[in-house]
Amino acid sequence: MENKIDIPPIRKFSRSLSCVPDKSITHRALMFNAAANGKSEVRGMLLGEDCLSTADCMRRMGAEIQINGDTARITGTNLHGADLYCGNSGTTMRLLCGLLSAQNGQTFTLSGDESLSARPMRRVIAPLESMGAVIDSHEGKAPLTVRGGRLHGIDYRMPVASAQVKSALILAALSAEGDTRITECERTRDHSEILLRQMGADVRQEGVTVCVRGGQTLSPVSVTVAGDISSAAFPLVCGLITGGTVTVRNVGLNPTRTGVLTVFDQIGAAYEITDRSDNGGEPVGTVTVRSLGAARPFTITRDMIPLLVDEIPVLAVLGCFLSGNSVVTGAEELRVKESDRIAATVRMLRAFGGKAEESADGMAIEPVGRLQGGVFDPEGDHRMAMSAAVALAGSFRGGAVLHPACAAVSYPNFWEMLLG
Ligand code: S3P
Repeated sequence: MENKIDIPPIRKFSRSLSCVPDKSITHRALMFNAAANGKSEVRGMLLGEDCLSTADCMRRMGAEIQINGDTARITGTNLHGADLYCGNSGTTMRLLCGLLSAQNGQTFTLSGDESLSARPMRRVIAPLESMGAVIDSHEGKAPLTVRGGRLHGIDYRMPVASAQVKSALILAALSAEGDTRITECERTRDHSEILLRQMGADVRQEGVTVCVRGGQTLSPVSVTVAGDISSAAFPLVCGLITGGTVTVRNVGLNPTRTGVLTVFDQIGAAYEITDRSDNGGEPVGTVTVRSLGAARPFTITRDMIPLLVDEIPVLAVLGCFLSGNSVVTGAEELRVKESDRIAATVRMLRAFGGKAEESADGMAIEPVGRLQGGVFDPEGDHRMAMSAAVALAGSFRGGAVLHPACAAVSYPNFWEMLLG
């Protein structure tokens, strides 16, 4: 791909699309099945670079994974020690820490790209160590060495809301001796729990606590992956800010993921959900946006963050088009994503002529209507690249996104979708 991509202003961005497959579910379906003895298929998987990193890691540990089109045929196995490269993927690294801690007698190294090597891993290492895991790190960061051993169950109160940490602990707990209770400070996405139950595991939800019985093995299960609402957010917001009509089919509507729709409700947007159905325990539906409607400003508070954590940069773009100041609080987690997304979002909006202020745990966005346009370097962060592209599509002059190839981490055909 070129070093930059030009984005012209787009009048009435209108599309009818099939949703890009869910990244979180694809990771889990590949990883859990590869660690379960037997055969399975993951259909409609995301072919994003992050998920391919997971597939590659699982192959290196002895699982067979053949990817044909968007179907992975998997023969799972007992995993053996290996050197694993997780690329840009926090989900791969953190979930593997939990899974591999319990592989008795095997040693694994986990490394990643520059962004992943700067992300905090202590949040997963510390509770795993309290289960008896042995993990070496470089001051809480990758590269990591995991020495698999015997684990015991714990009763753990999570200090950060993170589905990656929760999932790592659940995976470790399944192989531990005794039961584990994981209590969340805010409820996060539960794709691991849903899939593990389908694989025969005893994983129960009691309020905000996940209870996992120790000493369990998983049975492989074939799945069809639901669409990713975090990816759907880009065309949907682009439709809203340019006055177009956008329909996205097969959008995952798991209630732990639908914060973006709560924001659409807050602003009074005209949108509808049709064709609701169930996709292997994950609700899906067709989302159609028609107009900004009342265009009231939004307020995103701490309790909502896990439900829309990855959509905040593109929702900040939406904030420019509303009738008053929109505010995000309780979002300090954004500072430790693929980039510092609070700083990057404010930098992006200002570069395009918007008005936004950073706070320690969020931002405030002033309404300016259409942005002027400009040039933005997402510094390798896929969601910043796509948010900038949406902002430019809704701007007066358009502009360019530098190093746009990173969008393929989660949305392989994003540029064709936007410009095609
Ligand atoms: C993910 C959880 C979230 C999210 C990430 C995917 C997952 O991260 O931001 O894109 O698949 O579990 P945290 O667990 O760090 O909140």
